[in-house]
Amino acid sequence: MALSLTVNGEQRSLDIEGDTPLLWVLRDELGLKGTKFGCGAGLCGACTVHLNGQPVRSCSTPVEFAVGGEVTTIEGLAEDGQLHALQKAWIAKGVPQCGYCQSGQIMSAAHLLATNPAPTRNDIVAAMTGNLCRCGTYSRIIAAVESVAG
Ligand code: FES
Repeated sequence: MALSLTVNGEQRSLDIEGDTPLLWVLRDELGLKGTKFGCGAGLCGACTVHLNGQPVRSCSTPVEFAVGGEVTTIEGLAEDGQLHALQKAWIAKGVPQCGYCQSGQIMSAAHLLATNPAPTRNDIVAAMTGNLCRCGTYSRIIAAVESVAG
């Protein structure tokens, strides 16, 4: 079935079954490997991307849900050749350890700041609670988000 969606600002047409998880479309069909497979069950947040501006778990989002919509992945977060402020903060604070969960972490943080540019520490903790990090980088994640928050 031919499906059409916009990914990182580019219109994409794909011949694929509608119940295919968005994660596999991004990674395997479009080569966008920044979005990671963690649990595959909507529990860890490693696969977080934005669909029409909302954070979604791409492992448990059928691609047909994104038809006609706009998907943003970690690869699409930079604008005009400039890293997103959160990406710069992640580097400045040395957030990642193994790094596997971090694209999902950044996508959740980006949604938080898009909807609440001046979050409190509690707001940040609440917004990031669904993104798990087995290395335990939580304190650096919070510090990085706080450094960008207005
Ligand atoms: Fe999607 Fe864990 S891989 S939530």
